[in-house]
Amino acid sequence: VKKMVDLDLAGKRVFIRQDLNVPIKDGKVTSDARIRASIPTIKLALEKGAKLMITSHLGRPTEGASAEENAAFSLQPVVDYLNEALDVPVRLATDYLNGLEVNAGEVVVLENVRFNKGEKKNDETLSKQLAALCDVYVMDAFGTAHRAQSSTNGAGLFAPVACAGPLLAAELEALGKAMDNPARPLVAIVGGSKVSTKLTVLESLSKIADQLVVGGGIANTFIAAQGHNVGKSLYEADLVDTAKKLMVDCAIPVATDVACAKAFDENAEAEIKNVADVQDDDMIFDLGPESTAALATILKDAKTILWNGPVGVFEFKNFEAGTAGISKAIAESAAFSVAGGGDTLAAIDKFNITADVSYISTGGGAFLEFVEGKELPAVAMLELRAND
Ligand code: 3PG
Repeated sequence: VKKMVDLDLAGKRVFIRQDLNVPIKDGKVTSDARIRASIPTIKLALEKGAKLMITSHLGRPTEGASAEENAAFSLQPVVDYLNEALDVPVRLATDYLNGLEVNAGEVVVLENVRFNKGEKKNDETLSKQLAALCDVYVMDAFGTAHRAQSSTNGAGLFAPVACAGPLLAAELEALGKAMDNPARPLVAIVGGSKVSTKLTVLESLSKIADQLVVGGGIANTFIAAQGHNVGKSLYEADLVDTAKKLMVDCAIPVATDVACAKAFDENAEAEIKNVADVQDDDMIFDLGPESTAALATILKDAKTILWNGPVGVFEFKNFEAGTAGISKAIAESAAFSVAGGGDTLAAIDKFNITADVSYISTGGGAFLEFVEGKELPAVAMLELRAND
């Protein structure tokens, strides 16, 4: 695909689709990871002398509703953040579909693209209106690359030139390095609550990983597949056979000890049990110390690590040890490590290993779809536009 770094942007009207979909409370950005990841792209475009428009969605507003109704979804807090972070003026444009004046040396943030009617269904008229704003369309929103919408797909099809921004390019390179031709052994860690929501991820990784580590509620279904009682733990009885099949396809280490409690309660004491001793009234909330140590050994020998999802209820002090142990092992490992997904990022933050993970993806759903091996519509568009 064409890359923004390679293009001459001097004096050109440049439209960058970013993923600035960040949590906001009381008009303030509460987690800025996605904005921080997007800033180098903005700076590069400014250095190249672009007349710069950037945009994003924020949340899931009602298309075509009034500004008042959609006020909670305004990009204004992101504009405020950028005004602090950049040393050029940043302003919000609310009325832009029929064209707008942009000067080199300023950043114009186009209000939430999902306020526009037709955005979500990739409406051709809207796509053409967005495309008409620019000379160069830049897709940099990896976190939204799995959506075929006007700002992520259609606008790129109709713009004079469409290219990948540096963040999108870096994401694709890092994930590609982990998935396409990984240094082995490749160890994949998939945590989270349900097998059903991650089934295609598990199936895809079971084909390429040397070891597939499962955690959280997902692991309970595998523990059941080994014939153990999981008591009152979250698990999916109808997927036990699927779990058995996955264990034939790939080495999936199952916990030998677990941390249990009788209730889902922040202050519940953790009881460490052999996995064979779980009782009918037990709930499994984390790996036990023996299992955590065994996984740490596996991670120590890994050359590539792909991580999505915590392995226990790490929000609760008494059930954080498994996720903390895995975080530490990833941090200490010399492997090329890639992590993605909202809960995973929260764990990385909590256990302070941001600097030790080789690549932290800004994608949630997009990260999972990439790992599933699905084609991302925004990337497909860039491939179509690669030669013109
Ligand atoms: C995300 O937060 O995963 C992306 O910004 C995509 O948001 P969406 O699921 O509302 O399309």
